[in-house]
Amino acid sequence: MTARYSDLAGRRVAVTGGASGIGAAIVAAFHAQGARVTFFDIDAAAGTMLASSLGDGARSVALDLTDLTALQAAFAAEQADGGFDVLVNNAGHDDRHRLEDVTPAYWRDRMAVNLDHQFFAAQAVIPAMRATGRGAIVNMGSIAWRVGLTDAPAYVTAKAAIEGLTGALARDLGPDGIRVNCVLPGFVRTPRQTEKWLTPELRETVMRNQCLKRFTEPEDVAAMVVMLASEEARAITNQTLVVDAGWS
Ligand SMILES: NC(=O)c1ccc[n+]([C@@H]2O[C@H](COP(=O)([O-])OP(=O)(O)OC[C@H]3O[C@@H](n4cnc5c(N)ncnc54)[C@H](O)[C@@H]3O)[C@@H](O)[C@H]2O)c1
Repeated sequence: MTARYSDLAGRRVAVTGGASGIGAAIVAAFHAQGARVTFFDIDAAAGTMLASSLGDGARSVALDLTDLTALQAAFAAEQADGGFDVLVNNAGHDDRHRLEDVTPAYWRDRMAVNLDHQFFAAQAVIPAMRATGRGAIVNMGSIAWRVGLTDAPAYVTAKAAIEGLTGALARDLGPDGIRVNCVLPGFVRTPRQTEKWLTPELRETVMRNQCLKRFTEPEDVAAMVVMLASEEARAITNQTLVVDAGWS
């Protein structure tokens, strides 16, 4: 990433699901801007490895974001000495599920891992942002519901709801100087996506549907997130920005 956003130096940034994939690229991108990044992830081993590879200014917190009581306690503890300036609600889990197999418990589980924590993490950072009169929240959605992803109705529903959540928060928080935006990645070549889903057939589908005939990389999404968090985006809120090489 070549762009420099000098206002981000020294800022406190929280990233959920920051230990791998797009989240890890977001953590690294903020760290490269001189921000102090705390990331919350259930994968403690991957988190520790990333934090130690980045060094000072990167902190990993082991947390299951579906445990909302634990989330509230972890965010309170991390803000004991000052609040976050930026929140990136990135964590999610895109396992496929057939419509007829979805039980009430599985439906709740998908909302818990993809949607609920975005609201409660925002709720946790808002008081300190309000006190300083500024803040930026970026919620990670997906083009999944726009391009008609099949065999994932609960995931697709949660991702659509994140755009609604973004609008609701942006309206409520705008008077306090807090901006809220949503980023929709397309098919992003993360280790998990590549390992789990990238068959020759999917590669062909991605390249046929995208305007650009190159894969979107985690760093491409991170570049948008960092820009939205910076002062360069001071007039941008209540928006959905798509990073999908022109698929949707
Ligand atoms: N990769 C893509 O093609 C793509 C496309 C559209 C949207 N997205 C969205 O981007 C975000 C990141 O996706 P990714 O591909 O990097 O995913 P990923 O699976 O590679 O990484 C997700 C991270 O979230 C963490 N996580 C999962 N459940 C958690 C929990 N309960 N508590 C704490 N941490 C948890 C994982 O440990 C992991 O580090 C997600 O919201 C996803 O829906 C990704």
